[in-house]
Amino acid sequence: MRNSFWETALVAPLLMSFIIGTAPTTTFAQDEATEDLGKQVFTTEAAPNCGICHTLADAGAVGEIGPNLDDLMPSEERVRAAVLGGFEAMPSYEGVLTPEQIDAVAAYVAEVAGTGG
Ligand code: HEC
Repeated sequence: MRNSFWETALVAPLLMSFIIGTAPTTTFAQDEATEDLGKQVFTTEAAPNCGICHTLADAGAVGEIGPNLDDLMPSEERVRAAVLGGFEAMPSYEGVLTPEQIDAVAAYVAEVAGTGG
């Protein structure tokens, strides 16, 4: 296969970073890694996880307790504020998630909301 070397060269560092949990070195890969981390936070790491209350197609989330994030399309700042401060029925995640996790989930939601997955 003509492309397999380049595919391996591009994909392997991403896979490695996913497995060992550190960000790879290029800016492109860094963005991808942050997005992956944000998705992980959204779907599993946050306790309770965001998807039980929110719909977000990219994350496969269909919760209906909070607003549909695909419709709301919040900015990164707005997500961060909600996650840090809590919002009515939504708990605050300050001290529950690390600042890195909160940044990642805010960037992730702002990036994918409304894209339909
Ligand atoms: C227990 C249910 C619940 C969980 C878990 C939850 N939320 Fe919410 N969230 C809500 C509710 C309810 C609101 C709306 C409150 C209102 O408008 O009165 C809300 C509002 C929001 C908003 C909109 C804030 C605004 O400015 O209008 C964002 C963004 C948001 N949540 C993101 C998240 C993220 C990211 C997570 C996971 C880290 C999360 N939520 C977890 C229930 C939840």
